Amino acid sequence: MRKVLSLLLLLLPALILSTALPSRQKPQKKKCKNPAIRREWRKLTIPERQSFIQALLCLHKTPAARYSHMPGTYSEFEAFTTVHKLQTPYIHFTGIFLPWHRIFLAEFEHTLQTTCNYTGTLPYWDYTLDSRTTPMFPNANISHSPVFDPNHGFGGNGIYNKTMNDALTSQGTFWGGGCVRDGPFKDWIFHVAPQWEWYEDSRCLKRNIWEVYEMWTTSEREYTVMQQTNFTGMQKYLEGFGMDWVGLHGGGHMVVGGLPHGVGTANDPWTSSLEPLFYLHHANIDRVWDKWQRKRREYKWDVTDARMDREDKEVWGPGFVWEEAPMTMESRVNMTEEYVEWWGARVGEIWDIEGSLPEEFDGEAKLCYRYA
Ligand SMILES: *[C@@H]1O[C@H](CO)[C@@H](O)[C@H](O)[C@H]1NC(C)=O
Ligand SMILES: *[C@@H]1O[C@H](CO)[C@@H](O)[C@H](O)[C@H]1NC(C)=O
Ligand SMILES: *[C@@H]1O[C@H](CO)[C@@H](O)[C@H](O)[C@H]1NC(C)=O
Ligand SMILES: *[C@@H]1O[C@H](CO)[C@@H](O)[C@H](O)[C@H]1NC(C)=O
Ligand SMILES: *[C@@H]1O[C@H](CO)[C@@H](O)[C@H](O)[C@H]1NC(C)=O
Repeated sequence: MRKVLSLLLLLLPALILSTALPSRQKPQKKKCKNPAIRREWRKLTIPERQSFIQALLCLHKTPAARYSHMPGTYSEFEAFTTVHKLQTPYIHFTGIFLPWHRIFLAEFEHTLQTTCNYTGTLPYWDYTLDSRTTPMFPNANISHSPVFDPNHGFGGNGIYNKTMNDALTSQGTFWGGGCVRDGPFKDWIFHVAPQWEWYEDSRCLKRNIWEVYEMWTTSEREYTVMQQTNFTGMQKYLEGFGMDWVGLHGGGHMVVGGLPHGVGTANDPWTSSLEPLFYLHHANIDRVWDKWQRKRREYKWDVTDARMDREDKEVWGPGFVWEEAPMTMESRVNMTEEYVEWWGARVGEIWDIEGSLPEEFDGEAKLCYRYA
């Protein structure tokens, strides 16, 4: 325990404030005094939006400090995707989905602040404000969301790919598919290969904005999540479980990336974090989980049905090895298979964004923020 603690102290000085304690004594629990506030994209002033975009541009200019030995991992920005890619099979459709992405975002935000002098917090994108929800926004069109603004946002759709769109018309309306042609990321080149393969690539940020899937990013879908009375059920409706229920999470990926998988950067389960909007989208998923935790306090710490493995094990391919186990507050949230200690945390330590901990848990809370 002491070894793990001092390791964490070395690696995460800003997140861990207390010092190592004598054994046998229960560690003192860190208090979250002034939580940082994460706000919705359109609540940021224009200079605040610009400073977030500048920080992203800086991160992609900064040489990777970690994982540079992995193919295509040149920038710090790409290093986050390498981590996501290494963990992809473990962190989707398992109990670890929400806690893993929570600490991943916290580390991303922290790196923007420490590496790129970013003084703000991670914004989130509440797409329910942009989606066709009857009767509130009958004429909404998600592509008109301020997040796609070319001057003060993330740029718009990809270049129209007629071949692709002709082939897919039966599935809905497409009008993009190629490289993003405006906004701050139009010249970005990534080197991490798509999906599960490891080779050095060279590709642009692609989008295929798909308004049809706005039906999954509405406030009605958020409401269904809120109605759930256990963690696993809530996660299922929030994350989605196939094409029958795409959910807010699947919806957020698909409205930006379209179908099939990997056409738009946002819709490749392995490397979707190369799409800068990934971070705003996942902050929204984290916000909805936190909202549920507050609304359903009595079920907040109950993870009875949650598992580290998933039922349909073949989905990530043959030969994929799983540790079959229930998820508990003690379960490790690994950031890579090779370096378990990097950002290593236990589920209980990141369950509450304002640093409260389960009864009898001897860990340390690692988070201190809230959503406005
Ligand atoms: C961040 O600020 C420090 C201190 O002012 C400076 O030395 C460094 O170059 C800045 N980094 C970036 C990426 O702007
Ligand atoms: C949404 O807006 C885009 C861009 O203005 C347009 O091309 C598309 O047809 C619109 N979609 C719908 C369903 O109205
Ligand atoms: C357009 O889409 C087709 C089919 O998905 C693909 O083979 C082709 O490379 C794409 N063209 C461009 C310019 O991206
Ligand atoms: C949890 O919620 C889901 C979905 O609402 C439901 O199907 C399941 O039976 C619930 N599990 C328990 C243990 O109550
Ligand atoms: C996390 O790392 C620990 C320690 O190496 C290992 O026992 C465990 O199986 C890993 N869990 C996952 C989900 O990868």
